[in-house]
Amino acid sequence: MRGILLAGGSGTRLLPLTSVSSKQLLPVYDKPLIYYPLSVLMLAGMREILVISDGRHLDSFRHLLGDGERFGLDLRYAAQDSPRGIAEALLIGREFAGEEDVCLILGDNIFYGQGLPATLREAAGTVDGCTVFGYPVSDPERYGVAALDEDGRLLDIEEKPAEPRSNLAVTGLYMYSNDALICAEKISPSARGELEITDVNRMLVAEGRGRLVRLGRGTAWLDAGTHDSLLEASQYVQVLQKRQGLRIACLEETAYHMGYIGKEQLRALADGLSAGSDYGRHVRSLLRT
Ligand code: TTP
Repeated sequence: MRGILLAGGSGTRLLPLTSVSSKQLLPVYDKPLIYYPLSVLMLAGMREILVISDGRHLDSFRHLLGDGERFGLDLRYAAQDSPRGIAEALLIGREFAGEEDVCLILGDNIFYGQGLPATLREAAGTVDGCTVFGYPVSDPERYGVAALDEDGRLLDIEEKPAEPRSNLAVTGLYMYSNDALICAEKISPSARGELEITDVNRMLVAEGRGRLVRLGRGTAWLDAGTHDSLLEASQYVQVLQKRQGLRIACLEETAYHMGYIGKEQLRALADGLSAGSDYGRHVRSLLRT
């Protein structure tokens, strides 16, 4: 399975922060937002990843992450000229996907929790059609919402329904088997002019090829699309990291933990980070374990 990280968009809700910077380069406490979804793809077992962003910001992403080699990854980049919808990522990434299945993650979604990597790896190994990830929320009418039958099977996904049929929001993480990618070519722009990922997913669900995996209580799902949610995400990361002495979405640590790099490569990464930063000190401390 190959990963696609969609990090474009207009970021209008975050203006003026996003007037010169990409949303996904803004800080969430001690690291750029894009580190969080990137680490999720890495934990799910992906090493070949396409980063899609607005052409204006691609060089900044390249500057930040390079070709990925230092993290044991193969990172590629592609431009989305204008935010024509999330489903366009599957069209832009079609050639990159080749014969492989695809995991698409939105660049402003943060997932964190015990057991999540195992859940994602299991889902990645069994995808047929599409697999979406449902998360219980108190305000489902703001999201794409899963409708399930009594046995918990996915019947439909409804976008911002006035009367939600469950409290399960569909999160910004989607898996597709290779043959399902064709669905993105069959949809038309919605009333708001976007290629909607929900339309792709609904097409597969209608064919009986949609699966929902529930993310449970032990998982946090945050998005960082507004000033408040960006600040809350920073506070969440700060509290957890300080309390537990661990670090969320440290790419160097994730790469080492996943066996994508060895100790010598980790040492080189640590040397490149200043011991004056908490982040750098954390990476250095991994060498002692
Ligand atoms: P949204 O939150 O729907 O939109 P946005 O980021 O453009 O922000 P705003 O609503 O404030 O204008 O996007 C969700 C994620 O998907 C976000 O990481 C941006 C990304 N995205 C793209 O990269 N391309 C697109 O065409 C769209 C619609 C979103």
